[in-house]
Amino acid sequence: MGMKISVCGKGGSGKSTLVGLLAGQAEGRRLSVLVVDSDESNSGLFRTLGFEKPPAPLMDLVGGKKKLKGKMASSNILNAGQILIGDIPGEHIIKKNGLGLVSIGKIHRALEGCACPMGALTREFLKKLKLDENEIAIIDMEAGVEHFGRGIDKNVDAILLVVEPSYESIAIAAKIKELAGDMNKRLWAVLNKVDSVDTAKKLENKLEQHHIQLIGMIPNDSMIFEAGLEGRPFTPGEAFRAAGKVLDFVVENIGG
Ligand SMILES: Nc1ncnc2c1ncn2[C@@H]1O[C@H](COP(=O)(O)OP(=O)(O)O)[C@@H](O)[C@H]1O
Ligand SMILES: [Mg+2]
Repeated sequence: MGMKISVCGKGGSGKSTLVGLLAGQAEGRRLSVLVVDSDESNSGLFRTLGFEKPPAPLMDLVGGKKKLKGKMASSNILNAGQILIGDIPGEHIIKKNGLGLVSIGKIHRALEGCACPMGALTREFLKKLKLDENEIAIIDMEAGVEHFGRGIDKNVDAILLVVEPSYESIAIAAKIKELAGDMNKRLWAVLNKVDSVDTAKKLENKLEQHHIQLIGMIPNDSMIFEAGLEGRPFTPGEAFRAAGKVLDFVVENIGG
């Protein structure tokens, strides 16, 4: 069975970082990974994943934002009953070593309008995406909780919630717990930017109070910070190992 996992949480908490680390780990496990960039404000994910340029947005395939708002273009992949990774036109997916990246769309200009059509496209794409046994889709969600309102998370097998050491991040986590519960979705938290045992303990307690299951912890790591600063992929180390444990947990608990 293939798996669809969304990664959500507060802006800046480390969603894209976790996506990058998980994608790297999945490659090593002979899983085929499709990263779905669904955060239109995210411009550098392709660099983190080691690509030189981003794929053409899927939004272009369906005629851009205007068309999707009205009636969908007649000749788009979303009209098919299901979408296999191999059905995605070459320009719209970039690949290397078992890793593929697609992007829903980006807001390039001010006043381009609201992101709802992107939400609709993400939802339909994930609904129709049909994965093989060894394929895993990891969706880098937009920050916050709006995607729940748009029903995007309905089509995933589990939600990974990234929590950084901040009041705001915990507050969003509590809200997400509520929304995921309403949808009967499995929700697992991953702490990020943990700089001490003390911080970890505090965050663990907070999550426990909200009955959120914690499955992993990514340390505050200068390698991640520097990779982010320079726009390059992560290098092996503690953060990768921590993400590997998260991936193992997910695979065991969804696959079985
Ligand atoms: N574990 C970490 N250690 C150090 N820096 C981190 C870590 N996780 C994220 N960062 C940095 O924090 C910033 C936000 O991370 P990012 O993954 O882009 O967040 P999001 O996708 O949730 O907005 C980036 O500059 C990133 O390099
Ligand atoms: Mg991001």
